[in-house]
Amino acid sequence: MEDVLKIKKFKGYLSGEITIPPDKSISHRSLIIASIVSKQTGNKIRIKNLSLGKDCVATLEILKKTGVSFEYLSERELIVDAKKAFCSPDNFLDCGNSGTSARLLSGLFSSIDGFKCTFVGDKSLEKRPMARIIKPLSLMGASITSNADKMPLNIEGRQLKAITYESPIASAQVKSAILLAGLNACGKTIVYEPYLSRNHTEIMLEYLGAKIKFGKSEAGFWTSIEKSSFLSKTIEIAGDISSAAFFMVAAAIIPNSKILIKNVGINPTRVGILKVFDQAGVNYFILNKRIISNETVADIEVCYTENIKPFKISGDIIPELIDEIPVIAVLAAVAKGKSCVEDAFDLRNKESDRISTIVESFKKFGIKIEEKEDGFIIFGGEIIEKDVFLKTHLDHRLAMSYYVLSMLNKGSTVIDGFSCVETSFPEFADLMKQIKQF
Ligand code: S3P
Repeated sequence: MEDVLKIKKFKGYLSGEITIPPDKSISHRSLIIASIVSKQTGNKIRIKNLSLGKDCVATLEILKKTGVSFEYLSERELIVDAKKAFCSPDNFLDCGNSGTSARLLSGLFSSIDGFKCTFVGDKSLEKRPMARIIKPLSLMGASITSNADKMPLNIEGRQLKAITYESPIASAQVKSAILLAGLNACGKTIVYEPYLSRNHTEIMLEYLGAKIKFGKSEAGFWTSIEKSSFLSKTIEIAGDISSAAFFMVAAAIIPNSKILIKNVGINPTRVGILKVFDQAGVNYFILNKRIISNETVADIEVCYTENIKPFKISGDIIPELIDEIPVIAVLAAVAKGKSCVEDAFDLRNKESDRISTIVESFKKFGIKIEEKEDGFIIFGGEIIEKDVFLKTHLDHRLAMSYYVLSMLNKGSTVIDGFSCVETSFPEFADLMKQIKQF
């Protein structure tokens, strides 16, 4: 894949049908949870439609190093056999760019008595906070040492005890790390979170027969987990709405476009972008709604929308669209008027500090944008015509959002570091080519 892309204004329109690749979050969980189920039942577990992104490959390679074996039936379908897992690896475990691998696997490995490992990551992951998982896992009795709460993480697994933990942030990675540790702990573990973060771990564990419960009380959203017996079922993965988002926004803002995106996961904890589309008046349709492995899936049609309205997002919607904010910012740049993103401080802890990287790069396009501690304000609707050079900071979602914005820029845009899209969406450029019409 080309690492430096030069993009000129796109004078055509987008039309046609694409199938969106598998969900990254669900793919990580399928590999980890299938390994847990296979280890416990002694059965092999089949996964259908696994992400080919580098992040999920990192999780797979790590599990392999601990004795899980994977037999590929086709590019995206495989059989997991964890009878010989989980053994301490001979060498460090490389999470690459993937916070999900580091955080979820820390939960699992901390709970395996006698297991020892060291997690490392790339320059982006090295900067990301790990205290958010070290703290609750340590309360369960885990032994984790780190470089001042950052990578590398050294883990010595042991028998853990259950806890009740009130997470100060709505983070699916934190919640999942605790639940995966709780599966092996003595007693019932309960996690509270202030807003509901994505619940794919809970949905998959429930699908496979785990003793998991969830609900809402005055103290927040709660999930409880206990040691469980599992059912050996095939896990099929829905398409990733976070990947679909780039095409959805592109179709909404490029005149005369109309596209159908097939097989998109529309789990209620992930559809914040559709709520933004409602506020902005974007024309879209949800078709062919169905259930796959307990997750709701649909096809989404998006049409060009002439007068996109400005919007405001804050509070409980933020976890529902946290990964889509870079491309939602592109929509805000087109919407005539003032759009605001608030309560999104955790954007600063993603693959890059997405508040400052978005503000810095949008200013280069001449877009009026104001930085806030927990978000930004965009005064959109102006024509963009600047020659721009952008760096992706190893952040795949910035790279693809820049691509979409570049399609409107009357000047020329150079994106340096574009190959980081392989983290989640290696098929991005090919799919874009498939629907571009001139
Ligand atoms: C993820 C949860 C979110 C999200 C990330 C994937 C997951 O992170 O931003 O891309 O798969 O659990 P947080 O849990 O840090 O909010």
